Amino acid sequence: MSAAAPQGVAAHGGHIAIERVGIELGTGDNRFEVLHEVSLDATPGEFICLLGPSGCGKSTLLGALAGHLKPARGSLRLDGQPIDGPDPQRGLVFQQHTLFPWKTVLDNVAYGLKMKGVPRAQREHEARTLLELVGLAGFERRYPRELSGGMQQRVEIARVLINHPRVLLMDEPFGALDALTRAHMQELLLDLWTRMRTTILFVTHDIDEALFLADRVLILSPRPGRVVEELRVRFERPRHARLLTHPDFVALKRRCLQLLRHDGDSDTPTLGRLSPLGGPASVPRYAA
Ligand SMILES: Nc1ncnc2c1ncn2[C@@H]1O[C@H](COP(=O)(O)OP(=O)(O)O)[C@@H](O)[C@H]1O
Ligand SMILES: [Mg+2]
Repeated sequence: MSAAAPQGVAAHGGHIAIERVGIELGTGDNRFEVLHEVSLDATPGEFICLLGPSGCGKSTLLGALAGHLKPARGSLRLDGQPIDGPDPQRGLVFQQHTLFPWKTVLDNVAYGLKMKGVPRAQREHEARTLLELVGLAGFERRYPRELSGGMQQRVEIARVLINHPRVLLMDEPFGALDALTRAHMQELLLDLWTRMRTTILFVTHDIDEALFLADRVLILSPRPGRVVEELRVRFERPRHARLLTHPDFVALKRRCLQLLRHDGDSDTPTLGRLSPLGGPASVPRYAA
């Protein structure tokens, strides 16, 4: 497959700057800090995974980057511009499906362009191109309920990509899929990213998923989420399933587990506070 972006689908990765962001939620006596002094500089086209236990504020951070809530402290910028509301330049993909059940797959994907007033022929052409790219050529006239979970997630990705986002914000997008489908979706995402070079911030609590996908992994502490460590993941690309059993991969995984268990700066194990970390049960098994 060619690494070139198909015409009409190319996007350019944006530069995300998160500077000492603190986020508070709740009101009055119930107000609490969810994230504490989180900083990140994501270079254009970089693939970054945020890895942390349940409840540490990962979704909250993505929500702030999507423009749905404002930090109490610090700043969030895309290409130098402060983020102050939702914008299709920052595309969000969740675990839950957000497709319109009454629209066909094609109309779901083309919807973003319809909202922009793009003529039908052009938006359908772009939607078809994207559906082909995510492996759903031939399913244009189906309805979401007629598709498997993995296929619906492909449609979700296509409908976000049609807006030519500079940033993809992905919140455990494959969390509800079975192991094999999940592995396929990870490879599909890497393939799309290689072609488009959209900057990606991908949230997960699965260590294998983070290390398989990312250029860089930010490990967050339990609430309030702080960056415990940033790991560079230098495995060569394209990456294949056999990487998951490579000794260097396993060593890096061990390091992640230590950081998550020990919260980076303490010797007190905090595993009891962590929800599933993506052990063998949630990790696709491959032959080496
Ligand atoms: N709107 C809200 N009001 C009050 N608390 C919230 C709200 N949204 C999330 N929380 C709490 O904030 C913490 C962080 O949530 P979240 O960002 O969803 O964590 P994660 O995605 O890492 O699992 C959790 O303890 C959650 O219960
Ligand atoms: Mg979450």
